[in-house]
Amino acid sequence: MSDRFDAEVQAHAEDSIQREVFGTRLGFILAAVGSAVGLGNMWRFSYTASEGGGAAFVFLYVILTLIIGIPIMLAEFAAGRKSRRSPIGALREAGGPKWIPVAFFYVGAGFLILSYYSVIAGWVVRYAFEAITIGFPADAGAHFEAISTGPQAMSYHLLFMIFTVIIVMGGVEKGIERASSLMMPALFFILVGLAAWAFTLDGAGAGYAAYLQPQWGDLLDGGTFASAAAQAFFSLSLGMGAMLTFASYLSKDENLNREAVVISFADFLVAFIAGLVVFPIVFALGLQGAVSESTVGALFIALPGAFAEMSGGRIIGSLFFLALMVGALTSAISLLEVVVASIIDEFDIPRKKAALGAGTLIALFGLLSASSLDTLGLIDAVAGELFLVIGGLGLAILVGYRMKGAREELEKGASPLFRKLIPVVFVFLRYIVPPIVIFVIYDRLMNVWSVIQTTYLGG
Ligand code: TRP
Repeated sequence: MSDRFDAEVQAHAEDSIQREVFGTRLGFILAAVGSAVGLGNMWRFSYTASEGGGAAFVFLYVILTLIIGIPIMLAEFAAGRKSRRSPIGALREAGGPKWIPVAFFYVGAGFLILSYYSVIAGWVVRYAFEAITIGFPADAGAHFEAISTGPQAMSYHLLFMIFTVIIVMGGVEKGIERASSLMMPALFFILVGLAAWAFTLDGAGAGYAAYLQPQWGDLLDGGTFASAAAQAFFSLSLGMGAMLTFASYLSKDENLNREAVVISFADFLVAFIAGLVVFPIVFALGLQGAVSESTVGALFIALPGAFAEMSGGRIIGSLFFLALMVGALTSAISLLEVVVASIIDEFDIPRKKAALGAGTLIALFGLLSASSLDTLGLIDAVAGELFLVIGGLGLAILVGYRMKGAREELEKGASPLFRKLIPVVFVFLRYIVPPIVIFVIYDRLMNVWSVIQTTYLGG
């Protein structure tokens, strides 16, 4: 009896030394939703929608999530859970050593994205903190100008990186899972409350119209199509192995197909609701001009300006920026985890050291983005858009054509309905995803080029 018990303890101990696991199914879902829900949802989605056809864009976005997002997420899940390795090991196992450079590319994307994501998150931390302690500034534009770059931005960026590193040091179950399980429900309830409140504002109708009025003609525009696809990649955390890494901590009997649908739907829902918060507020105060000026303009200038003026704005604004901070933090965790897990798996370095080392390097590199908005924008265009779509193409090809046992992996734990759909997923990975994504890669490449031209070549 005691022998057997000892043997079990021993086996368990060995298992958890080799690979950590999520404690519960819900914990995995919340961690993955936490990764997906972030700055991308809370602001970029509604902004892109208002620019690109309103409800027509939302419709397109949902379609793209179904035909590209979910298949690629499933490809990441299959590669991650089957190998139970972070991207480098997973790609090596699925495709052979030739694929290792692709995995390095993933780790590089995680590094680069986190380096500037954390700068933006630092602004959010600052706004949340100031909203609670001193309120919103009267001149939000001047305030943003003063804090968005330089030592001010650097210190909050470093602070945010410290939060991120501490959680990742805590491990999969005690760090990532616990943080997401506490924070994601809070975020959701705050957001729904804010949307209900925004509904009562005068001018809410005009805000909804600007956000959602369908302009079907916009869908014929290739640029709208590509930006919807790139937005889906970023928002769902696809194309650089974040979902792959999380799935590698998952036990074998979860229904991956169902989880992918749940996670994608939750991500969309939060993005959609965030738009229902932001647009009425901005329009109630007649600040729509700031929306079209720039993406950061609305979030860090128009919205705080509105909070400063409206009654109850300080409380509402504090809650809004707190929710944003929570979203950013659970996303940053997943970006760091890709880098950390790869270091742990490949070099046998203990988690705490790996997290501290990788976090420090990323924080230092992020100082570049904290000193120049142009640099931040360029790294976003390169890593946050181009790298992800290239990474997604790689994954679709690897899992669609080459990886052995991918289908069986998705069939594990699948209900009969999902089982029937799995062949469809492979048809998409092979024939639908690659041509669409190649078009998006072309478009985003041109975008990077135009960013370089306008910011660095003066034309
Ligand atoms: N999805 C997050 C957002 O919407 C950002 C993010 C986290 C991410 N992890 C990622 C993006 C991995 C791409 C890949 O803000």
